[in-house]
Amino acid sequence: MNATSLASAPRWRDDLSTEYAGLVETLERLIPCMEVPLHLPWIDAINALKRERGAVIMAHSYQSPEIFHGVADITGDSLALAQAAADCDSNLIVLCGVHFMAESAKILAPHKTVLIPDLEAGCSLASSITAADVRELRARHPGVPVVSYVNTSAAVKAESDACCTSANAVQVVEAIAAETGSRKVIFLPDRYLGSWVATQTDIELVLWHGQCEVHEKFTAMEARHTRERFDAKIVAHPECPPEVLAEADFVGSTSAMGKWLEKERPQRVAMITECSMADNLRNKFPQVEFIKPCNLCPHMKRITLPNIHAALRDMRHEVHVPPGVAARARLALDRMLAVGRRDRV
Ligand code: 13P
Ligand code: SF4
Repeated sequence: MNATSLASAPRWRDDLSTEYAGLVETLERLIPCMEVPLHLPWIDAINALKRERGAVIMAHSYQSPEIFHGVADITGDSLALAQAAADCDSNLIVLCGVHFMAESAKILAPHKTVLIPDLEAGCSLASSITAADVRELRARHPGVPVVSYVNTSAAVKAESDACCTSANAVQVVEAIAAETGSRKVIFLPDRYLGSWVATQTDIELVLWHGQCEVHEKFTAMEARHTRERFDAKIVAHPECPPEVLAEADFVGSTSAMGKWLEKERPQRVAMITECSMADNLRNKFPQVEFIKPCNLCPHMKRITLPNIHAALRDMRHEVHVPPGVAARARLALDRMLAVGRRDRV
């Protein structure tokens, strides 16, 4: 919190703890209880601005509990947020997540205003590849379709045939292969997600060398130690290195991890992913004990209650995507969403 945000910080009122009694109980389970009274005035001020402006706040599962539980109207993984942006009634969306997620929301809801509280909230995967790299890959593999993880810039999506998230990567790869008649697909930019997808399908994948700076840090030794020392189930995101995934009882996307917990209800579990994911699930599964390790995403953590408040107060920072790029990126995102719709039928 800098000097400016402190100067304009909303003040504590005694009625806040009664008005937000349910939220206080939730947050006290998830974060140090002394932090809760610091967050409540911001939460109250954000909720008031949100009503005044008719805004919808969307938060990714990696957002801190005070954001996820305190101010978000819609929460979920990147697929759920993309779908929600496409379907949402409000003309103003505040995207609490990283920049590629806000760009996806803008592409899918072009007539709406999309704000991101911190423009610097990037992603190591999105910055690992450019549109020129994709064009070069296409030239090297003529006729081979391109599937891009949504963790890419709008310009990279515009050069792709379809997008995917970790929740639907296998289905999208198989759908695009069937549609184009190609047994080979260029899969960008996460080499670890790509090598995991390759184990789930017969389609040959050409991979890029991008990595998530958060998930690449986990080691097989940590996972093994956690299982042996704490008798915990190991659940890992497919952005982790293959040797970590080999130690896991379950590998799945952000949403799949939640569904697995719902079904299995283990006594103890280690979520090998971003820390807030486990914090936010802990509330839903009070009988499950969540064991570290976890790693923080520094980009997701750039989003804070004070900068969400400033975004709504000053209508900053609006996300823009050049119309030509947006139109082509939209085709790739729509193809992904169509695969999801087909699977739900
Ligand atoms: P999801 O697609 O599972 O939401 O993950 C996004 C992400 O950034 C994972 O690191
Ligand atoms: Fe990007 Fe990794 Fe952070 Fe997800 S966790 S936003 S993939 S850097």
